[in-house]
Amino acid sequence: MDDSLAIASDQLVQRHARPGMSLLAVLHAIQDELGYVPSGAITPLARAMNLSRAEVHGVITYYHHFRTEPAAPVTVQLCRAEACRSMGTEALAQHIEAHTGCRFDAGHQAGAAVELESAYCLGQCALSPALMLNGTLHAKVTPQKFDALLAAARKCVEVPA
Ligand code: FES
Repeated sequence: MDDSLAIASDQLVQRHARPGMSLLAVLHAIQDELGYVPSGAITPLARAMNLSRAEVHGVITYYHHFRTEPAAPVTVQLCRAEACRSMGTEALAQHIEAHTGCRFDAGHQAGAAVELESAYCLGQCALSPALMLNGTLHAKVTPQKFDALLAAARKCVEVPA
């Protein structure tokens, strides 16, 4: 890592790590600011939290919520748990993959404007199938509703269809 990145990572951690804070709270704060937790932050985080680098890395990789690279401009999290499965979420997943040209849980594919993630219960079981699109929850999603939501999201982030 070059010196400027190391300094930026140190400053990032100094902005968020406070005495008494848990590692999870600091990771959430960093991800809220940047949209991800850069790998360069692991060493300064370990130092600030008096943990090993392996412990910090282990927490980041254990929780699906944390990402180590920037997300695509449009991120879709589709619930694939039981209630949503019983209401057709797998057919919806196939539609979403065909419509976007992306695959679920493949990460942010280079150049892709959309990233697809599986989720396992979004707390909307009675209104399934459910998904989150750029952090906003949507329920009773049909293929047609998804297409409209995606078109609106692309406009918001100025991504061509
Ligand atoms: S099972 Fe899909 S929201 Fe709960």
